[in-house]
Amino acid sequence: MTEFVKTELDSGVLTVTLARPDKKNAISNDMYGALADAVERAEKDPAIRAVVFQGDGDSFTAGNDMADFAAQSKDPTIMSHVHRLLKDLAGSTKPLIAAVQGNAVGIGTTMLLHCDLVYVAPSARLITPFVNIALVPEAASTHLLPARIGYARAYAMFAFGEPVDGATAVSIGLANALVPAEELRAKAREAALKLAKRPGGSLSHTKALMRNAEAIGAQMDREGALLKERLKSAEAREAFAAFAERRQPDFSKIAG
Ligand code: COA
Repeated sequence: MTEFVKTELDSGVLTVTLARPDKKNAISNDMYGALADAVERAEKDPAIRAVVFQGDGDSFTAGNDMADFAAQSKDPTIMSHVHRLLKDLAGSTKPLIAAVQGNAVGIGTTMLLHCDLVYVAPSARLITPFVNIALVPEAASTHLLPARIGYARAYAMFAFGEPVDGATAVSIGLANALVPAEELRAKAREAALKLAKRPGGSLSHTKALMRNAEAIGAQMDREGALLKERLKSAEAREAFAAFAERRQPDFSKIAG
């Protein structure tokens, strides 16, 4: 159990809130576990007809907790719940909706590729900095992102790790609509309530037909195997040390 992920079920909508605002909602292993539990609960419970993901504070999430990454790079036996969450997202048949303000880093962006509706505030900054920290992308984003926004844009997002703002996210098809920050949660909830009244069986078949869950799962496995390798690399260790020491990493002396 963690107090950093809150869930609330109301009128058929399960709202899942990342609630660690002082750390920009960085996701620790316990939080991945709670998120996976919530997605599994939604899948099993017929009373849950839609799920909304949102984050407290000024960020959606700063992505994977960097201290956890550093610990995993030193001890590869640590089991992360992230893989369970990713598989749950890949296989989810319920409508998933995201309300994104501020930073959406790493999985904060890649999980949006598994959401069916994404609403962003103008402050949204979608960042996939896996190469910045010497890792590889996850969540099947190496297939899903280029499929969504084209190879050229996807490669630039991965290779440079530069943020995409809310308006751009909408214009390139990464999000459905730009919504003023003060209306963001209401907009996501309104969409969820609307979907909750639609024929659930029809919606879940439609979603299953639109997504190749098997191929997505297989790509996640390929990425996951490489990520495990990368976590042990000298490059990644330098990146995590640099984050902890609040300095820029220096990869220049490390052979590729
Ligand atoms: N893991 C753990 N802690 C994190 C974190 C992360 N991913 N991201 C931010 N934090 C913590 C910071 O260490 C800081 O903690 P402190 O107040 O105890 O020092 C606090 O959250 C606020 O972060 P700060 O960097 O001061 O906020 P900012 O507004 O200047 O920048 C980010 C926000 C998200 C751009 C920046 O924190 C960042 O780049 N984080 C790392 C993101 C990342 O690479 N994630 C992995 C993706 S694969």
